[in-house]
Amino acid sequence: MLLEREAELAQVAEALRAAAAGDSSLVLLTGPLGTGRTALLHQLPMLAEGEKIRVLRANAAPMEQDFDLGVVRQLFDSLLTGVPEDLRGQRIEAGVDLCRTVFSDDAPPLDENGAVTIPEEALYGLRSVLATAGAERPLLILVDDLQWVDTPSLRWLAFLVKRLHGLRAVLVCSLRDGYRRPGDPLLGEIVEAARRVLRPAPLSLGATKEVILEQFGVPGDEEFARACHESSAGNPLFLKSVLADLAMRGHRPTAEHAETARSLRPAQLRERLASSLRAQPRPPRDLAAAIAVLGDQAEPDLLGGWPGWTRSASWPRCATSTSWGWSPPSRSRAFSTGWCRTRSSPR
Ligand SMILES: Nc1ncnc2c1ncn2[C@@H]1O[C@H](COP(=O)(O)OP(=O)(O)O)[C@@H](O)[C@H]1O
Ligand SMILES: [Mg+2]
Repeated sequence: MLLEREAELAQVAEALRAAAAGDSSLVLLTGPLGTGRTALLHQLPMLAEGEKIRVLRANAAPMEQDFDLGVVRQLFDSLLTGVPEDLRGQRIEAGVDLCRTVFSDDAPPLDENGAVTIPEEALYGLRSVLATAGAERPLLILVDDLQWVDTPSLRWLAFLVKRLHGLRAVLVCSLRDGYRRPGDPLLGEIVEAARRVLRPAPLSLGATKEVILEQFGVPGDEEFARACHESSAGNPLFLKSVLADLAMRGHRPTAEHAETARSLRPAQLRERLASSLRAQPRPPRDLAAAIAVLGDQAEPDLLGGWPGWTRSASWPRCATSTSWGWSPPSRSRAFSTGWCRTRSSPR
């Protein structure tokens, strides 16, 4: 059950209508950890149901970042799977030689630094496979977690987003806040090419009540619902993790469990947060460690000397979202008063 995402679905539906008429575009889906980017991407193929639209998808993962062309292969696999052999051959031919590299098990060619090289004609070749497929039916191309896409695939995506004209396609990419790989301008190029940027909003109190009802099968007490809404700050991942943990403990959504709902930090959530932090550059990790150790004593003035960080009025937006990809509920003054990384620091 996806709540309060009608506006985002409508925007992508609009982009699909335009693409069918020849106006292709890139839609970027952003936000911190747990705001529902993946859930929304999963919902998008519903827009293609009953329409003559083909869906291609790929999910990037941190463990697969070294798997060269992995994301491109995922996308084209879904284009070629189930296609009759002769048509498949035609599609591969349309992509000239690179398609053989991409679709065969041969290792891609390497340059003198050992990096995968993709010749320019190969970039065009893959695009022309999409053009052929798009001429049959408009394409909805979904890429989850752009921040983890392997570099050769990212290069191709950066090439593609500047050459969507002439295709009949909507490319929807999700990108977690705060992930700019050092020295990687490709992500920046993709971000700049977006026609629409969607940022799923925090769930309202009303939606929080619906999630509680779904989890427990009965409506929650008002006090319990408010506690869940405030402590999760409308973040669906946080909310669902807390509710699942409470249900596992045999608690009911009553007022007497409101305080527990406020203070619970389920193991599953802690693990997601920890892995999110582990993937961050050094300064935010160090600062997080300092805040964890200092707790409520993590006064802005005390943290002021932290290398690479300085005070800012926009801490929650700038530091937690932009640098960590996660907006925690306000637990200490450091989270609520304002800190922001502004200088580039050793990573
Ligand atoms: N709009 C929503 N309504 C209800 N549940 C949601 C919504 N968005 C996300 N969720 C749930 O919250 C959890 C985290 O969402 P997810 O899509 O994995 O977040 P993200 O990809 O942004 O980190 C998942 O269990 C998902 O089903
Ligand atoms: Mg996700």
